[in-house]
This record gives sequence, structure tokens and C-alpha cells, in this order.
Amino acid sequence: MTRYIAPSILAADFANLQKEIEIINASKADFIHCDIMDGVYVPNISFGLPVVEAVKRHAQKPLDVHLMIVEPERYLKKFRDAGAFYLTVHQETCMHLHSTVTEIKKLGMKAGVSLNPHTPVNTLEEIINDVDMVLIMTVNPGFGGQEFIPRSYEKIRKLKALIESSGSHALIEVDGGVDLTNAGTLFETGVNVLVTGTTIFESENPAETIRQLKNTGR
Ligand code: DX5
Ligand code: ZN
Repeated sequence: MTRYIAPSILAADFANLQKEIEIINASKADFIHCDIMDGVYVPNISFGLPVVEAVKRHAQKPLDVHLMIVEPERYLKKFRDAGAFYLTVHQETCMHLHSTVTEIKKLGMKAGVSLNPHTPVNTLEEIINDVDMVLIMTVNPGFGGQEFIPRSYEKIRKLKALIESSGSHALIEVDGGVDLTNAGTLFETGVNVLVTGTTIFESENPAETIRQLKNTGR
């Protein structure tokens, strides 16, 4: 099974963002994960459209944009125009999730849906065949550098079973507290995409850390 790494720039040095992106460009990373936080859905404010546009100008990897905002349907086209390749909304923030997923795809992006730690996998049963990726939050969203929630493994197994039983092509992505101690087990459990911020950007050699994350357990 293909293994993807999506470094989260929330943990990057924002005073030197172009340099950080160039390091990612030269690495084995597959996506650049952009965490958009509005201070309402999550108790933190990160960055918005101008930063995504700036990242896009320098990125040589597709942008994996994670919307931790209320009423994300207001901004789908704006994030498409800013350069989003994957656009992920939270199940908990969408009154009309099927319609929002349909609109994301109509705009030419890949549609992702994210579940908070308390939200069951079965809430996606009716749209699992419409989405391109499911992002399982392995921490409570809002901050980098948190502890991985161990119960996430059981949730990944449930999601994998739903994807297999429904014939969905959705990728499984996890986000939060991912590091070299759990990356191998996560891939073995069926995860396709690891989002990692702190482990990569606080390491001495981010490109080497990305290589290790991708090959761990092999
Ligand atoms: C948290 C974000 C994560 C976070 C990853 O709400 O969605 O992407 O930045 O953080 P680490 O890898 O530092 O735990
Ligand atoms: Zn994220």
C-alpha cells in the first residue's frame, strides 16, 4: 500500500516560510498540509487565504488544506482559487455535508471529510463513496504538539472496514501526535497519509525525518 507524508506547516517557522517550503519541496513528502483555524470551531487562530496563496507560489507538492472552521461551505471556491488540491471539511461543521462534498469536487478539488475524536466512523456511511479522503483526528483539533489518542487505532480499523465493504476509494489520513514511534503501526493499521507537524519541523533534519517516517517498519 502506498505511503504518503503530509507535513503540517502549522509547526513551521512562519518567519521563514519560503525556506521551510523549499525544504519540503526537496524531501520525499507528498503533500503540504495547511491547517486553517478560525478561533470558533477550534480554540486557536492559525492562518488564512493569503498564506495559502503564498505557500502555493513556492510549493512543488499539492496542498492538502484542512478547514477547522465553521460553515466551510462559504469558502470552497476561495480555497480552490488559492491553490487547494485536497480540501477537507469537518463532518461536525457541515449541516449539508453531501452537498458540500459535491461542491468541492465540482470545483475540481479532491474532497476530504475529517472526524473529531468523538465522532463515529458510521456518520460517513451514506457518503463514504463520495469522498476522496477521510481524515481521522488523532488529537483534539486546534494545536500541534499534542499527545496521540490511542483509541484512534480502533477507529482506523472501523474506517478501513467501511471503505472495504462499501468499495470506496477514499484514502485514510490521520492527523495529530504522529511521530516515529507510531508511524509504522499506523501504516500497518491501514493509514495511507500521515500528517505530521512537530516531529518534522522540530527535528534537526526535516527531510531525513520525512524519509524515516515513510520507511518506518519496512
Ligand atoms: C491540529 C492540526 C494538526 C497538527 C499536527 O488541529 O490539524 O495538523 O498541526 O500537529 P502535530 O503533528 O504537531 O501533532
Ligand atoms: Zn490538520
